[in-house]
Amino acid sequence: MKTTISKVSQYVDQEVTIGVWLTNKRSSGKIQFLQLRDGTGFIQGVLVKKEVSEEAWEAAKHLTQESSFYVKGLVRKDDRAPSGFELTVTDLNIIQYATDYPITPKEHGTEFLMDHRHLWLRSSRQHAILRIRNEIIRATYEFFNNHDFIKIDPPILTGSSAEGSTDLFHTEYFDRDAYLSQSGQLYMEAAAMAFGKVFSFGPTFRAEKSKTRRHLIEFWMIEPEMAFTDHEESLVIQENYVSFLVQSVLKNCPSDLKTLGRDLSKLENIKAPFPRITYDDAIKLLKDKGFNDIEWGEDFGAPHETAIAESFDLPVFVTNYPTTIKAFYMKPQPGREEVVLCADLLAPEGYGEIIGGSQRIDDLELLKKRYEEHNLTDPAYKWYLELRQFGSVPHSGFGLGLERTVAWVCGIEHIRETSPFPRLLNRIYP
Ligand code: 4AD
Ligand code: MG
Repeated sequence: MKTTISKVSQYVDQEVTIGVWLTNKRSSGKIQFLQLRDGTGFIQGVLVKKEVSEEAWEAAKHLTQESSFYVKGLVRKDDRAPSGFELTVTDLNIIQYATDYPITPKEHGTEFLMDHRHLWLRSSRQHAILRIRNEIIRATYEFFNNHDFIKIDPPILTGSSAEGSTDLFHTEYFDRDAYLSQSGQLYMEAAAMAFGKVFSFGPTFRAEKSKTRRHLIEFWMIEPEMAFTDHEESLVIQENYVSFLVQSVLKNCPSDLKTLGRDLSKLENIKAPFPRITYDDAIKLLKDKGFNDIEWGEDFGAPHETAIAESFDLPVFVTNYPTTIKAFYMKPQPGREEVVLCADLLAPEGYGEIIGGSQRIDDLELLKKRYEEHNLTDPAYKWYLELRQFGSVPHSGFGLGLERTVAWVCGIEHIRETSPFPRLLNRIYP
């Protein structure tokens, strides 16, 4: 029976055939132990010399790391094995003997591994991280489908900027200028006026000259947008969504979390509601903690965010930032125009901002005023004003950065490992 490692539990004491690669092997003279992977999992194959043909024994002896072959064997239940099963190998059918695979079981430097990202993806740690990423994507669709959101795909090539012009990637659109999307938000607002509750999931691009463990040049964002929804209602959706993501990973990826050595108690605790702190109080909290370098009106840097997050066990919403440091479309707090109805969700353990969101300006005159203040004179923005002209309603939305969320849930040091082929300041290879 041809099967995969993930399904061997269905074939205990039966003979199966699996297409595999060799990750490692050791031998004790009369027995060879083959560490095998097939993309779906990892399993040990055991060859006993006197129980297999001489051809099979010799073929196994010549196996090198990443050689590819079909292995035939009996599935044995074995509680000592990490997967719970072992394969008693009966035959091998070699596809290719690999030579000089560069990523050996010894330690390698980060740059070397990044240069070999196309191969590094095969290692058990990378495998676990990207499976957790997959689970977060799967759970995202489940959550928003269950809450009656429609998925809408905003364009990648755009004529306007959603988050300010400094970080835009410029490109040519025949004889015109165009930019790679920084955020689908403006289009999602149009979609919310057509469908009520919508979400997008797609790549976004920021030409940020940041070289930190939290920044990618190309990253994926989930952007829900909701008509007839105020800021407070949006926060409730956000905390329920993030809790659902974490609980889904705990439920569906226990072995991947184990591979990563993740402290599960930190994740089990992540359940809505999450605490909220205003920007004003966050400034006070920072001053109390001895940060004298920050004044009201300034944006937080990574150390500030970490210090705020450390004061809570759960992700924390920092709300009502100064109008001057946030995007042009955010709605001012009624009666206090110098702050906006927005929130950043800061993840625990120093992972920084995983969500940025706000209630949007729904008043046509105020939006026109903001256009003037921000010099948004390009005709490319005309359509966005029209959304406030024809049945404008209160609406809110947010963007969750997929890779930052994956880094936090996995408990890994650097965001580069959360993307299969990360685009970093100095890297577009492989
Ligand atoms: O806070 P940001 O810039 O918000 C927006 O783009 C809004 N238009 C979203 C919306 O309301 N629809 O980005 C949202 C999230 C951040 O909280 C962060 O998690 C992630 O996107 N992010 C990045 N992730 C990796 N690398 C970068 N360079 C990122 N920039 C933002
Ligand atoms: Mg932000």
